[in-house]
Amino acid sequence: SLQQTLILLKPDAVQRRLCGKILGRLEDRGLKIVALKMLKVTKELAAQHYAEHVKKPFYPQLEEFITSGPVVSLIVEGPGAVQVVRDMMGKTNCRESAPGTIRGDYGLSRQVNLIHGSDSPESAQKEIAIYFRPEEILSYDSTL
Ligand code: CMP
Repeated sequence: SLQQTLILLKPDAVQRRLCGKILGRLEDRGLKIVALKMLKVTKELAAQHYAEHVKKPFYPQLEEFITSGPVVSLIVEGPGAVQVVRDMMGKTNCRESAPGTIRGDYGLSRQVNLIHGSDSPESAQKEIAIYFRPEEILSYDSTL
Protein backbone atom coordinates (compact mmCIF):
# COMPACT_ATOMS: atom_id res chain seq x y z
CA SER A 1 0.00 0.00 0.00
CA LEU A 2 1.09 3.59 -0.64
CA GLN A 3 3.14 4.90 2.25
CA GLN A 4 5.14 7.98 3.13
CA THR A 5 8.35 7.85 5.15
CA LEU A 6 10.67 10.47 6.62
CA ILE A 7 14.31 10.52 5.59
CA LEU A 8 17.18 12.62 6.92
CA LEU A 9 20.48 12.92 5.11
CA LYS A 10 22.61 13.43 8.19
CA PRO A 11 25.39 16.03 8.62
CA ASP A 12 28.06 13.60 7.36
CA ALA A 13 26.16 13.09 4.08
CA VAL A 14 25.98 16.86 3.53
CA GLN A 15 29.63 17.43 4.51
CA ARG A 16 30.83 14.60 2.28
CA ARG A 17 28.80 15.87 -0.71
CA LEU A 18 26.87 12.60 -0.92
CA CYS A 19 23.34 14.07 -1.00
CA GLY A 20 23.03 13.90 -4.78
CA LYS A 21 24.09 10.27 -4.92
CA ILE A 22 21.73 9.27 -2.12
CA LEU A 23 18.77 11.23 -3.55
CA GLY A 24 19.56 9.68 -6.94
CA ARG A 25 19.31 6.19 -5.50
CA LEU A 26 15.93 6.97 -3.96
CA GLU A 27 14.67 8.42 -7.24
CA ASP A 28 16.12 5.56 -9.28
CA ARG A 29 14.23 3.13 -7.09
CA GLY A 30 10.99 4.88 -8.08
CA LEU A 31 10.26 6.63 -4.81
CA LYS A 32 8.49 9.97 -5.20
CA ILE A 33 9.81 13.00 -3.32
CA VAL A 34 6.82 14.89 -1.90
CA ALA A 35 8.70 17.24 0.49
CA LEU A 36 12.32 18.35 0.74
CA LYS A 37 14.31 20.94 2.67
CA MET A 38 17.63 21.70 4.32
CA LEU A 39 17.78 22.68 7.98
CA LYS A 40 19.91 22.56 11.09
CA VAL A 41 18.57 20.21 13.73
CA THR A 42 18.36 22.04 17.08
CA LYS A 43 18.77 20.29 20.43
CA GLU A 44 15.02 20.61 20.93
CA LEU A 45 14.26 19.01 17.56
CA ALA A 46 16.80 16.24 18.24
CA ALA A 47 15.12 15.44 21.56
CA GLN A 48 11.72 15.24 19.86
CA HIS A 49 12.95 13.08 17.02
CA TYR A 50 15.03 10.79 19.22
CA ALA A 51 12.63 10.75 22.22
CA GLU A 52 13.16 6.99 22.62
CA HIS A 53 16.97 7.47 22.85
CA VAL A 54 17.19 10.58 25.07
CA LYS A 55 17.90 8.51 28.18
CA LYS A 56 20.45 6.22 26.50
CA PRO A 57 24.17 6.48 27.27
CA PHE A 58 25.01 7.32 23.65
CA TYR A 59 22.50 10.22 23.43
CA PRO A 60 24.96 13.07 24.17
CA GLN A 61 27.12 11.91 21.26
CA LEU A 62 24.10 11.44 19.02
CA GLU A 63 22.87 14.96 19.88
CA GLU A 64 26.34 16.41 19.23
CA PHE A 65 26.50 14.71 15.85
CA ILE A 66 23.00 15.37 14.55
CA THR A 67 23.21 19.09 15.50
CA SER A 68 26.74 19.50 14.09
CA GLY A 69 25.73 20.79 10.66
CA PRO A 70 22.86 21.01 8.20
CA VAL A 71 20.77 17.99 7.26
CA VAL A 72 18.49 17.39 4.31
CA SER A 73 15.03 16.30 5.37
CA LEU A 74 12.60 14.75 2.94
CA ILE A 75 9.46 12.70 2.63
CA VAL A 76 9.25 10.03 -0.02
CA GLU A 77 6.17 8.17 -1.09
CA GLY A 78 5.70 4.76 -2.68
CA PRO A 79 4.34 1.28 -2.17
CA GLY A 80 5.76 -0.07 1.09
CA ALA A 81 8.06 2.97 1.24
CA VAL A 82 8.94 2.55 4.93
CA GLN A 83 10.50 -0.90 4.53
CA VAL A 84 11.87 -0.22 1.04
CA VAL A 85 13.90 2.70 2.42
CA ARG A 86 15.02 0.71 5.48
CA ASP A 87 16.30 -2.00 3.15
CA MET A 88 18.08 0.52 0.92
CA MET A 89 19.81 2.09 3.97
CA GLY A 90 21.30 -1.11 5.40
CA LYS A 91 21.91 -1.76 9.09
CA THR A 92 22.42 0.98 11.70
CA ASN A 93 26.11 0.15 11.86
CA CYS A 94 27.60 0.90 8.43
CA ARG A 95 30.27 -1.71 9.07
CA GLU A 96 27.63 -4.45 9.20
CA SER A 97 25.68 -3.17 6.21
CA ALA A 98 25.76 -5.14 2.99
CA PRO A 99 27.44 -3.73 -0.10
CA GLY A 100 24.71 -2.31 -2.32
CA THR A 101 23.07 -0.53 0.60
CA ILE A 102 23.66 3.19 1.16
CA ARG A 103 25.50 2.66 4.44
CA GLY A 104 27.28 -0.42 3.12
CA ASP A 105 28.60 1.52 0.14
CA TYR A 106 29.52 4.82 1.79
CA GLY A 107 30.17 4.36 5.51
CA LEU A 108 32.14 2.56 8.20
CA SER A 109 30.69 4.03 11.42
CA ARG A 110 27.80 3.07 13.73
CA GLN A 111 27.04 6.62 14.81
CA VAL A 112 28.00 8.62 11.75
CA ASN A 113 25.78 6.64 9.42
CA LEU A 114 24.67 9.02 6.67
CA ILE A 115 20.92 8.55 6.65
CA HIS A 116 17.87 8.12 8.83
CA GLY A 117 14.63 6.50 7.73
CA SER A 118 11.50 5.95 9.81
CA ASP A 119 11.34 2.44 11.27
CA SER A 120 7.55 1.93 11.01
CA PRO A 121 4.50 3.60 9.49
CA GLU A 122 3.64 4.93 12.98
CA SER A 123 7.12 6.47 13.43
CA ALA A 124 6.85 7.89 9.92
CA GLN A 125 3.64 9.76 10.77
CA LYS A 126 5.22 11.10 13.99
CA GLU A 127 8.48 12.14 12.32
CA ILE A 128 6.76 13.72 9.32
CA ALA A 129 4.80 15.91 11.75
CA ILE A 130 8.03 16.87 13.56
CA TYR A 131 9.84 18.01 10.40
CA PHE A 132 7.11 19.31 8.08
CA ARG A 133 4.02 21.47 8.16
CA PRO A 134 1.14 20.03 6.11
CA GLU A 135 1.46 22.75 3.44
CA GLU A 136 5.09 21.77 2.81
CA ILE A 137 3.99 18.31 1.63
CA LEU A 138 3.05 18.36 -2.03
CA SER A 139 0.55 16.25 -3.86
CA TYR A 140 1.18 15.89 -7.59
CA ASP A 141 0.83 13.46 -10.51
CA SER A 142 3.80 11.66 -12.01
CA THR A 143 2.13 10.91 -15.31
CA LEU A 144 4.29 12.97 -17.70
P1 CMP B 1 19.24 6.09 13.59
O1 CMP B 1 18.73 4.69 13.52
O2 CMP B 1 18.97 7.03 12.50
O3 CMP B 1 18.66 6.74 14.93
C1 CMP B 1 19.26 6.46 16.16
C2 CMP B 1 20.72 6.70 16.02
O4 CMP B 1 21.46 6.51 17.21
C3 CMP B 1 21.29 5.69 15.06
O5 CMP B 1 20.84 6.04 13.78
C4 CMP B 1 22.78 5.83 15.33
O6 CMP B 1 23.31 6.96 14.68
C5 CMP B 1 22.76 6.10 16.83
N1 CMP B 1 23.03 4.89 17.60
C6 CMP B 1 22.23 3.82 17.74
N2 CMP B 1 22.81 2.92 18.55
C7 CMP B 1 23.97 3.45 18.93
C8 CMP B 1 25.01 3.03 19.79
N3 CMP B 1 24.93 1.86 20.41
N4 CMP B 1 26.07 3.83 19.95
C9 CMP B 1 26.12 5.02 19.31
N5 CMP B 1 25.17 5.48 18.50
C10 CMP B 1 24.11 4.71 18.32
